[in-house]
Amino acid sequence: MSGILEVQELRVQFKVGGSLLAKPRTLHAINGVSLSVARGEVLSIVGESGCGKSTLARTMLGIETPTYGRVLLEGRPIGDYRRADLAAKIQPIFQDPYSSLNPRKTVHDLIAMPLLVRGGMARREISRLVTDTMELVGLPRRMMHSYPSAMSGGQRQRVAIARAIVTRPEVIICDEPTSALDVSVQAQILNLLDDLRRQLNLTYIFISHDLSVVNHISDRVAVIYLGRIVEIGPVEDVLHNPRHPYTRRLRASTLEPERGVRLPKPVFQGGFPDPTNPPAGCHYHPRCSEAMPVCQTAAPGALRVGHSTVACHMFTGLADDDEDLNPESAQIAAGQET
Ligand SMILES: Nc1ncnc2c1ncn2[C@@H]1O[C@H](COP(=O)(O)OP(=O)(O)O)[C@@H](O)[C@H]1O
Ligand SMILES: [Mg+2]
Repeated sequence: MSGILEVQELRVQFKVGGSLLAKPRTLHAINGVSLSVARGEVLSIVGESGCGKSTLARTMLGIETPTYGRVLLEGRPIGDYRRADLAAKIQPIFQDPYSSLNPRKTVHDLIAMPLLVRGGMARREISRLVTDTMELVGLPRRMMHSYPSAMSGGQRQRVAIARAIVTRPEVIICDEPTSALDVSVQAQILNLLDDLRRQLNLTYIFISHDLSVVNHISDRVAVIYLGRIVEIGPVEDVLHNPRHPYTRRLRASTLEPERGVRLPKPVFQGGFPDPTNPPAGCHYHPRCSEAMPVCQTAAPGALRVGHSTVACHMFTGLADDDEDLNPESAQIAAGQET
C-alpha cells in the first residue's frame, strides 16, 4: 500500500564556504531518507538541532529541490504539480508565528492569502471561508481586522494554523509548531492540532526536538541523526522501548520519568559532527557508547526489530530475520547504502 506522501532515497546537499581562494564544500543535510506516510497518520520526525529536520520539511513542501531521490504526493512527484495545486494539498506551519506572518496584513487577509493564490473564488465566498476557519481554530470573529502585532504568540500561531487549513489541504507539515510558545500555550495549540486532524481528516508530518510533545501527538516516530533515519516505528516502541543507542540517549534527555521529575540533559560524548565531513560508517559511532569496530567502516543496513526498523550493527544477527524484507526496512536500507 502506498502512502499519501512518499519520500524515496532522498538526499539534499548544499554548497557552502566557497570563496575566491577556497572551493565550496558539500554539506550533506539529508543523506538517504526513505519513508512513507499513510493518510490520516501523524508521523513525527525528531532529532537534535542541525540533523536535517527543516530541510526534510522544506523538501517535502517543494521549497528545497532534492539533489537525489524524490518526494511523491498521492503517487505523483511534487515537481509535476502546478505551484497552486500543490499549495492546495500540502501546507506548512512553521515555528515562529512572529516572522512567518506579514505584519502589515490583517488577520482576514493573512488567512485569505492561500485562497487568493489559488484563485477562482468570489470575495464573499472567501470571507465566509475565512470566518468559518477562524471559528475552527478558536479565534474570535472580532479579530478579523486586527494586525499580528496586537496578538499574543498563541493567537498568532492560530492565525498561521487557520491559513494552513483554509484551502482544506490533505497534508500539513508542522515544523516545531509549539517551540516558540510559552509552555502553558503549547498544550492548547497541540490540542487544537489534534482536534483539527480528526475533524478535517488531516495527515501530519510533525517535526520536533521535544520528545514529550511528540509522545502526545504521534502515531509513528522517525529519529534522524545527521540526515539519516536511525530508527522508525510506532510511538510506543520508539519512545518507550527505544532500540537505537541514539534514540535511547535522546529519550533520556527529554522524556519525563515517573513523578514528573525531569532528567538532566545528558552530556553526549563529542560534539555534533560536521555535516560537510560526516563520519564514515555509522554516522553516530564517534558518540556511541556501544560502538564496535564495524561501526567505523560500514553504514548499518536497516533491520526490523519488533515493530520498529533500526539501523544499528548491534542488531545484526538479532533481528527478526523473516521480517527483514518488509518494505520500510528495504527502503531505509536502500537509502543508506554508501
Ligand atoms: N540553505 C542552506 N544552505 C546551507 N546549509 C544549510 C541550508 N539549510 C540548512 N543547512 C544546513 O543543513 C543542516 C541541517 O539543517 P536543518 O535542516 O535546518 O536542521 P534542523 O531543522 O534539524 O535543525 C545544518 O547543518 C544546516 O546548517
Ligand atoms: Mg529546524
